[in-house]
Amino acid sequence: MAIQNLPTNVFAGQRPGTSGLRKKVPVFMQPMYLENFVQALFDVLNGLAPDGQLGSALYGQTLVLGGDGRFHNRAAVQTILKLAAANGVQRVLLGQGGILSTPAVSAVIRQRQAFGGIVLSASHNPGGPDGDFGIKYNASNGGPANETLTEAVYARTQTVKRVLISDAPDLDIDTLGCFLLEQMQVEVIDSVADYAAVMRSLFDFDMLRGMFKQGFTMRVDAMNAVGGPYAKAILEGELGAPAGTVVNAVPLEDFGGLHPDPNPVNAEDLIAHMMAADAPDFGAAMDGDADRNMVLGRNFVVTPSDSLALMTAHAKLIPGYSTGLLGVARSMPTSAAVDRVAKVLGIDCFETPTGWKFFGNLLDAGRVTLCGEESYGTGSSHVREKDGLWAILFWLSLQGATGRSVESLVREHWQTYGRNYYSRHDYEAIPTVVADALMADLRAALPGLNGAQFGARTVTVADDFAYTDPVDGSVSAKQGVRIIFDDGARVIFRLSGTGTEGATLRIYLENYEAEVAQQDHPVQEALADLIALAEQVAGVRGRTGMAGPTVAT
Ligand code: G6P
Ligand code: ZN
Repeated sequence: MAIQNLPTNVFAGQRPGTSGLRKKVPVFMQPMYLENFVQALFDVLNGLAPDGQLGSALYGQTLVLGGDGRFHNRAAVQTILKLAAANGVQRVLLGQGGILSTPAVSAVIRQRQAFGGIVLSASHNPGGPDGDFGIKYNASNGGPANETLTEAVYARTQTVKRVLISDAPDLDIDTLGCFLLEQMQVEVIDSVADYAAVMRSLFDFDMLRGMFKQGFTMRVDAMNAVGGPYAKAILEGELGAPAGTVVNAVPLEDFGGLHPDPNPVNAEDLIAHMMAADAPDFGAAMDGDADRNMVLGRNFVVTPSDSLALMTAHAKLIPGYSTGLLGVARSMPTSAAVDRVAKVLGIDCFETPTGWKFFGNLLDAGRVTLCGEESYGTGSSHVREKDGLWAILFWLSLQGATGRSVESLVREHWQTYGRNYYSRHDYEAIPTVVADALMADLRAALPGLNGAQFGARTVTVADDFAYTDPVDGSVSAKQGVRIIFDDGARVIFRLSGTGTEGATLRIYLENYEAEVAQQDHPVQEALADLIALAEQVAGVRGRTGMAGPTVAT
């Protein structure tokens, strides 16, 4: 075994996006592509002085490594271990078989006080040889690296000249235990144990066991992704849910051809089960790396924005949150349902740009306890990622503690706080030039929209959302065009930061309804006038030639 110093070459486009570097598998499989990126990461972590001198900050440190098991996961693990061994890392905690969900990486980093961790995942994007792959670095707080670090890594990917890598043969990553790779210790750890311990510390497992004993029924669709082993171990193993409660529970390299994105469009099998006459009490799904969640009751789908609002309203029923919440945060396009709850509770409610990383500072500074996004992400201060199974256990606990169904909990919530009708319309894979021109024209139109009248509504805010982080003062501009009306309705336009094909335009539509008698309309109907308004303002159909959105959640 020896450490090799290999020449590398520069690849265009190794700039991490909303959630790390995400590309098609064939891109990642180019010789030296992954190596170049990870070497740049290690150089930056080691401490790169302005004159290019390398420090040794990684020396003697522990990193966590694991991924969602998608195609290329195992090969990438081998490469990264060999790079880590050559770049001074003292110890790697590796999930067995290279498997760790995104929230589990965060939990392990925090539990073991690691220097940081590497997550291999393209989250909810399809997998397989023609699917997507991704890599993301999380810092010692367990959360996604900030933009200063990711930008530094990107800059380094463009200038790095050599890759340091061990020429050791591939390692056995499936057997628990410790072994040496060059000078580096590799500890293959149980993928679930640390995470399960965190869940045990937050929820009343005895009560949950009691629910299943009394015949509570549930269907969790792990979508052939990494959430399966976690849900099976905790729900079926520890809590006594009947075998078969978790379906599609074995992580497959191509997710069995499923699109592992838990929304009503992609989780259609779960929806069908929950709408059937013999539907279980509770349904839920997670995405590819198990940080997203969708929750459903019998014949009833909960929107992520409502989910966050309800969790906030009832948090004190959960042991881990019984003393109350420090505050809450939502991403800007997420509905304002949670704002109303926060107001009643008298706690702060922060509005951040899209991207979980923006919650990190607020969580670290003790300003918020719960966070959520419209994109099926909810989480809390227990880790620094959104957490699918945590959200499922939270909702399970709410049902156990109140003895009420999902639907009755949500309807009661609407009666108390009003309903924020909500939908997101996505126009996927549109040419980047078309999308950029559309956004530029919208931005140019903003001054004229302020104060404009649309039917009975008046525009109170028309702007491009900018966020000043209240903890470190950093400013993130151009985070989405907002049109907010005097009755609480909102229409928001932004381009996705996570796509891998062309551009995805997202239009977020929200309408507030206080009248109980008006809270039961089909969502698209309740939003019809806002949908028309969005089209009038942006002319999406004409510009894209598309008849309508490719996905409406
Ligand atoms: C990932 C991120 C989320 C984000 C979502 C959608 O799941 O972790 O924070 O909300 O992607 O992002 P996008 O930029 O595609 O709208
Ligand atoms: Zn995800």
